[in-house]
Formats: sequence, structure tokens, C-alpha cells
Amino acid sequence: MKSQIRIVQIGVGNWGKNLLRNFYNIPQVQMPMVCDTDEKAVSKVATEYPGLETTTDIQEVYHRDDYDAVVVATVPENHYQIAREFLLRGKHVFVEKPLVLDLKHGEELNHIAKTQRRLLMVGHILEYHPAFEKVKGMIDNGELGEIYYIYTSRVNLGVIRQTENSLWSFAPHDISIILMFMNQEPECVVSTGQSFIQPGIEDVVFTTLHFPDGKMAHIHVSWLDPHKIRKVTVVGSKKMAVIDDMEATEKIKIYDKGVNFTGNYTAYGEYLTLRIGDILIPNVKNIEPLKLECQHFIDCILNNRPPRSDGEDGLRVVRVLNAAQESLRLGGVPVNL
Ligand SMILES: NC(=O)c1ccc[n+]([C@@H]2O[C@H](COP(=O)([O-])OP(=O)(O)OC[C@H]3O[C@@H](n4cnc5c(N)ncnc54)[C@H](O)[C@@H]3O)[C@@H](O)[C@H]2O)c1
Repeated sequence: MKSQIRIVQIGVGNWGKNLLRNFYNIPQVQMPMVCDTDEKAVSKVATEYPGLETTTDIQEVYHRDDYDAVVVATVPENHYQIAREFLLRGKHVFVEKPLVLDLKHGEELNHIAKTQRRLLMVGHILEYHPAFEKVKGMIDNGELGEIYYIYTSRVNLGVIRQTENSLWSFAPHDISIILMFMNQEPECVVSTGQSFIQPGIEDVVFTTLHFPDGKMAHIHVSWLDPHKIRKVTVVGSKKMAVIDDMEATEKIKIYDKGVNFTGNYTAYGEYLTLRIGDILIPNVKNIEPLKLECQHFIDCILNNRPPRSDGEDGLRVVRVLNAAQESLRLGGVPVNL
């Protein structure tokens, strides 16, 4: 069994440089080369990581074969084409979210990964976040009871993208977590939004997911907002959980709040009693989620295990994004998956 994995990274822009820092520092990783079409991005990397080979021409990477895996952190428009080229060359591929922009492309990537017997992993970072893992554990062991509904806010005054809208830029994170918490896929999506800054690119989007068993989830994303909020609220029949990623230490609060149904009553009001109990702040490991995500990719390659956020997971998220985009285009008409 291999003990070292050789990785080439494509794209070292705003987010890619964080991936590079993490992969570069994993003891089982060697990085023969980094590629970015932007001269400035490449020369910055060359200065910060002396000895690391760099190129602005992806053909150079295609022409060599001294690596096992590729990290794709380019803009979403070319995830498909780049990931496809490397999977066909027999490399394991990590792609940033969203996996692809077109569902058919995602299906094809999964098919190639399967036939080539290579890993395809998507950067759904929150699936590796200790706070989200903790709440997932509580959901799975029944501590929160039956999950009724979830809502999320991912808003700030931030990087305004010029090709993808705020839905494709932010919501992959929320969708991946909602699917993980709900343990099922929605049957219908409703989405509305508006473009204020650039025509045709929605700055703010409100999306509602309806699940077959009547559960629901709501996602608010925007890069045009006075607050920086990264919050997920999970309302269960026994307890309610709030994950606030802007909190430095107290990231999770578990509210022992709910409605009790009593058997003995003479009037309807007596049948329902509110329970307002304690608030628990569980201890959460203080480890950078990106570090855990990168280590997971390497561990999965070394141990020949499928990653948690594999290509199928990426596809499920793109399916919801596609339906939301269609609903958005139609002005908020419900779109079935
Ligand atoms: N997981 C997260 O929390 C998170 C956060 C931000 C961005 N992202 C994702 O990371 C990806 C990159 O986002 P970003 O903010 O770094 O974008 P960016 O525009 O800052 O960087 C993209 C880089 O890719 C390079 N590039 C584009 N096409 C290329 C090609 N064909 N060959 C080589 N290099 C190429 C560009 O020159 C640029 O440097 C996106 O998919 C984005 O959604 C994830």
C-alpha cells in the first residue's frame, strides 16, 4: 500500500490557496506541481512555497504522469472539463463545490470515476466541520427527536461573482448540510431572488426545499447584506439546535424547547404545553474544517474508501441547485426533482 500521495493542484485563487496550504502541510502528501492560468497567482505561490514547481499551462500537467491525484479549485464553469480529463488519465480527483453546473456532466464524471475505479470527492466543507458533525450525531441518535424543519442564512457584503449567482456560490454548503441532516432528498424546490448589481446574476436568493414526508428547509443566501451570518437552525420534536459558525467558541446551542402533547385535557389549550428548558453548549473540537476535509481525501485514497462527500453527493446537491435555478427562472414556480 502507498504511504505517500502525489498531488497536483489546478487553480490557486482566493480559495485554492487555502487548499494548497492544507494539502502542502499533510505529511503523507507531496506536491510536484501547481497550475493556474493567472501569472500573478502562480508567482505568489512560487514565492510562498520555494521549490514547488508551477505552470500557467495545464497541458504541461496533462503531459506528465508523476502524480496520483488532482485538486481542482478553478471557477465552476471548467470543473467538469478539467475533472474529466484527469479522471480519464486515471487520477483521483477532488473538485471544489459545486461539482459541475450541468447535471449530465456530473453523471458523466461519476460514471468515469466508477469505471476508472478512482475517487471523486467534492469540497462540501461543512460535512467535515466538527460542529455540523456533532449535530448530525445528535440527529442520528434521536436526541433532537423527529426533525421538523431547518433554515439557514449565509449572507454578508462580500465577493460579488460575475458569472455564478449567489445561489450557486453559497447554497451548495447549505444544501449539502440539509441533505445530510434530513437524510433524504427533496421532492420539490421553490426559489425566488433578485439581481440588483449585475443583470441576470441574482445577489439574493430565497429557496425552500419540500421533502416527501412533509419536512421542509429554507435557505437564504446573499452577498448584499449588512450582516455576516453563517447560521443553521434545526427544529426537532424534542430539542432545537442552532449552529452559528460566526461564533468563535460557542458554535452550537441546543435548546431544550418544544411542545409537549399531554394525554389528559378538557380543553384544547391544555392538550399542548410549552417546554422551555435549559440551553446546552456542547464542546466542539477547534480544528479547521478544511484541514479535516483535505486529510479525509488523502485517507480515502490511502485506504481505498469512498469519501463522505463523493461524486454522488455532489450530484445530489447539483440536482437541487438545478431545480432551484429553474424555479428562479420561472419566478418562483415549484419545480419537482
Ligand atoms: N469550500 C468553500 O468554502 C469555498 C469558498 C470559496 C470558494 N470555493 C470554491 O472554490 C472554487 C474557486 O473559487 P475561488 O474563490 O478561489 O475563485 P478564484 O476566481 O479566486 O480562483 C480561481 C482560480 O482558478 C484559475 N483558473 C481558472 N481556469 C483555470 C484553468 N483552466 N487552468 C488553471 N487555472 C485556472 C484562475 O486563474 C483563478 O486563479 C470555486 O469552485 C468556488 O465555488 C469554495
